[in-house]
Amino acid sequence: MQLNNAKMAILLTMLVIFILLFLSCDSTTLTITQFQPLSDGTTLVSKDGTFEVGFFSPGSSTNRYLGIWFKNIPIKTVVWVANHDNPINTTTTPTKLTITKEGNLALLNKNNSVIWSANTTTAKATNVVAQLLDTGNLVLQDEKEINSQNYLWQSFDHPSDTILPGMKIGWKVTTKGLHLNRYITAWNNWEDPSSANFTYSVSRSNIPELQQWNGSTMLYRSGPWNGIRFSATPSLKHHPLFTYNFVYDTEECYFQFYPRNSSLISRIVLNRTLYALQRFIWVEESNKWELSLTVPRDGCDGYNHCGSFGYCGSATVSSMCECLRGFEPKSPQNWGAKNWSEGCVPNSKSWRCKEKNKDGFVKFSNMKVPDTNTSWINRSMTLEECKEKCWENCSCTAYGSSDILGKGNGCILWFGDLLDLRLLPDAGQDLYVRVHITEIMANQNEKGGSRKVAIVVPCIVSSVIAMIVIFSFVYWRTKTKFGGKGIFKTKVKINESKEEEIELPLFDFDTIACATNHFSSDNKVSQGGFGPVYKGTLLDGQEIAVKRLSHTSAQGLTEFKNEVNFCSKLQHRNLVKVLGCCIDEQEKLLIYEYMSNKSLDFFLFDSSQSKLLDWPMRFSIINGIARGLLYLHQDSRLRIIHRDLKASNILLDNDMNPKISDFGLARMCRGEQIEGNTRRIVGTYGYMAPEYAIDGVFSIKSDVYSFGVLLLEVLSGKKNKGFSYSNNSYNLIAHAWRLWKECIPMEFIDTCLGDSYTQSEALQCIHIGLSCVQHQPDDRPNMRSIIAMLTSESVLPQPKEPIFLTENVSAEDDLGQMVNYSTNEVTMSGMEPR
Ligand SMILES: *[C@@H]1O[C@H](CO)[C@@H](O)[C@H](O)[C@H]1NC(C)=O
Ligand SMILES: *[C@@H]1O[C@H](CO)[C@@H](O)[C@H](O)[C@H]1NC(C)=O
Ligand SMILES: *[C@@H]1O[C@H](CO)[C@@H](O)[C@H](O)[C@H]1NC(C)=O
Ligand SMILES: *[C@@H]1O[C@H](CO)[C@@H](O)[C@H](O)[C@H]1NC(C)=O
Ligand SMILES: *[C@@H]1O[C@H](CO)[C@@H](O)[C@H](O)[C@H]1NC(C)=O
Ligand SMILES: *[C@@H]1O[C@H](CO)[C@@H](O)[C@H](O)[C@H]1NC(C)=O
Ligand SMILES: *[C@@H]1O[C@H](CO)[C@@H](O)[C@H](O)[C@H]1NC(C)=O
Ligand SMILES: *[C@@H]1O[C@H](CO)[C@@H](O)[C@H](O)[C@H]1NC(C)=O
Ligand SMILES: *[C@@H]1O[C@H](CO)[C@@H](O)[C@H](O)[C@H]1NC(C)=O
Ligand SMILES: *[C@@H]1O[C@H](CO)[C@@H](O)[C@H](O)[C@H]1NC(C)=O
Ligand SMILES: *[C@@H]1O[C@H](CO)[C@@H](O)[C@H](O)[C@H]1NC(C)=O
Repeated sequence: MQLNNAKMAILLTMLVIFILLFLSCDSTTLTITQFQPLSDGTTLVSKDGTFEVGFFSPGSSTNRYLGIWFKNIPIKTVVWVANHDNPINTTTTPTKLTITKEGNLALLNKNNSVIWSANTTTAKATNVVAQLLDTGNLVLQDEKEINSQNYLWQSFDHPSDTILPGMKIGWKVTTKGLHLNRYITAWNNWEDPSSANFTYSVSRSNIPELQQWNGSTMLYRSGPWNGIRFSATPSLKHHPLFTYNFVYDTEECYFQFYPRNSSLISRIVLNRTLYALQRFIWVEESNKWELSLTVPRDGCDGYNHCGSFGYCGSATVSSMCECLRGFEPKSPQNWGAKNWSEGCVPNSKSWRCKEKNKDGFVKFSNMKVPDTNTSWINRSMTLEECKEKCWENCSCTAYGSSDILGKGNGCILWFGDLLDLRLLPDAGQDLYVRVHITEIMANQNEKGGSRKVAIVVPCIVSSVIAMIVIFSFVYWRTKTKFGGKGIFKTKVKINESKEEEIELPLFDFDTIACATNHFSSDNKVSQGGFGPVYKGTLLDGQEIAVKRLSHTSAQGLTEFKNEVNFCSKLQHRNLVKVLGCCIDEQEKLLIYEYMSNKSLDFFLFDSSQSKLLDWPMRFSIINGIARGLLYLHQDSRLRIIHRDLKASNILLDNDMNPKISDFGLARMCRGEQIEGNTRRIVGTYGYMAPEYAIDGVFSIKSDVYSFGVLLLEVLSGKKNKGFSYSNNSYNLIAHAWRLWKECIPMEFIDTCLGDSYTQSEALQCIHIGLSCVQHQPDDRPNMRSIIAMLTSESVLPQPKEPIFLTENVSAEDDLGQMVNYSTNEVTMSGMEPR
């Protein structure tokens, strides 16, 4: 018995020792200590197995480096390198990563000389351990604080070429000066991690921004943070996949990103071969890194592409430069030859400082603000105070808000040349540039321009005289142009019971009748749902389109009122601009800018005209429509559902820019209300979302459905309605879906394009189109994500199979009736579902 007990005791002791050994053994794979160094051939893995630290040789190089990479990704992706500028020569020196006697993390060779070290000397060696966190951060800390966030040193403070989620890029100061500056540096090339002269950092200034530098040359700047985003980046607050964090206070300034879904694997890396920053997302299905963002995005993003006082215009067309209003090319020859480097100078009417009524400010909207290198900032001033401050100082050339949240506040002043300007339809902010007073007046009277400009006259001047001059001039212009009744703000009696203020010029009926040759049938250009549209020419030669509400359609009055109200408030480059209205007894007329190139359906569905629509044009049209629709849905102060989006409602201007027309059917949705239910169905068969056609339920997602149909039509050059493939049971959506399922999506593209289209863009578009026509409104993306997708900013989920609304769906009677009404693509209205 006793013997047995002794045996038991020994066994137990051995077991305990074994377990202890096992445990400590296990922990060696998780930490590095003075006694457990890491040698070449072994690795240290993070707790959840995401990251691994060890030795590697990039590409065909024989040099060894200590680095961190993703453990579970088949493509070896190194995210951090310790000794990038001190490679280890494998043929001579075996190495180890260890904790030195001084408590420093160091890379030592055979004879214990230091190849690389973390430079920490604050702790005692015996207590110090290094471990790799699940975020990819290699940290050095006191053993007693192993689960705290007190690090003696961390690799996230010394990034290489990669930003991982949660990593801070930026700087920190203490009373002693700069404490830490975390920025990323590109490798020289894919098999040489040594530091290139290409970096991405947060600028050390009181107006910080993100900048890319090639040695001492700036290549790109993001523009300052304006409360929502960096001036030149689209909104970061609503990104579908990532959230961004920008912190700026007295001690530090940094930028971070996180994926919204923590299981998404992503990284941002600086690449010197491309001179660009790229964001990648790991896609399990395809087993590769998918590119989701490149910065700079295009030539216009390059630093000071257009020289001083020049700005880059529309990015979708090309990297064309223009001079700001009131400025002209310094050298017209060079400018004409697309050499923009010298920029622009004030034109002959240059302003003279503080001379009474000689200078003022023109507002440019959606501008990436100029380089703030020599700017002055006060974050608590109002815009009004800012204007005064700028006006007082003769070297001040522009001002703007430092924070655009709400009505905007804070003040930035620019002095001297304005560099690196860019017009961004989806970003930027208001910038007020100092010009000669005549520019302001000319601007105010300019017709048909897409720029929104407001008069901002210095308020300290008793500018009464100036105002009288301006308004008498404007009044005179309006009077001559509109023939009598014009003033800018007019109380219009639309409804007997209610007076509404409309900020639109009022035309008088005789003027319009005269302009349209008394509404002659020769002048009629189309027949819309609520009445015909006529072309007209005003006395001063300006061409207009006039929509005449049918006398008979009593129910049209509501829509007309809506349209007038909406239109007076909507302004966007992709919306048709309303010039005014006319109400005269029974007559209700809307006056639009005239579009010389008719509507999209005219080109798209005509075998000879469709050849004129090449791929870049189609892609730019798709983008334009998407932007216009996004504006209606989200960006304008009123949330508007169009409800009758179709090819014939997309008008094209001289440059084939698409403009959405016909807001007559739009319903205003106030605030949160993004879904509504309507007694009356308006819309066009073939474009209507199933829930709308059948149940009369509309939402911004039913517009998305129509957009999807429109997109598929633009890609294929065929009408959804009336299209039949092989037999009648296939409509266009079904056809697209079938090709998608059979993995031959490219067969969907209009044959007249041949091979001249960009595959990746076309594929992305088909994907978007099918995502938009999904049966469940919730499955459909919103316009913001669609735009992100169009700029290949994001990866889309696979679309679900759409329901093919053919002639035989459930609510047969209603639809049957609708089909009758819409044979000529005329909008229906007045239908009662059920
Ligand atoms: C590595 O060491 C070998 C032998 O000493 C030498 O020939 C080679 O040039 C070294 N390589 C580098 C990159 O220093
Ligand atoms: C350690 O080895 C390196 C090369 O491996 C040599 O250059 C250096 O002189 C050696 N240092 C000492 C102290 O031996
Ligand atoms: C460590 O400190 C020394 C001396 O201050 C410096 O020369 C060296 O560059 C530093 N090394 C690193 C990796 O920061
Ligand atoms: C930079 O991009 C090029 C082209 O995509 C790629 O071949 C190369 O590996 C990248 N360089 C690095 C250091 O990742
Ligand atoms: C980086 O620039 C510095 C000076 O600006 C120069 O001395 C150095 O050689 C450059 N390095 C590389 C890798 O181009
Ligand atoms: C970056 O600088 C290098 C060396 O000065 C130069 O050769 C290269 O063209 C520059 N790249 C860009 C994109 O400016
Ligand atoms: C995050 O992504 C994973 C894998 O794609 C998915 O299974 C999970 O549902 C997502 N989580 C959330 C909250 O969306
Ligand atoms: C652009 O014009 C400037 C000034 O005349 C000149 O120095 C530069 O070489 C020109 N650039 C090109 C690409 O022609
Ligand atoms: C600011 O501009 C001045 C003059 O143009 C230049 O010398 C300086 O390097 C610039 N500083 C920065 C941070 O760009
Ligand atoms: C900033 O503006 C506020 C409000 O006008 C003023 O009180 C404050 O003194 C200004 N600060 C500086 C540094 O000019
Ligand atoms: C105008 O602003 C500049 C730049 O901040 C400054 O140097 C100058 O003193 C100011 N002039 C006046 C009159 O305030």
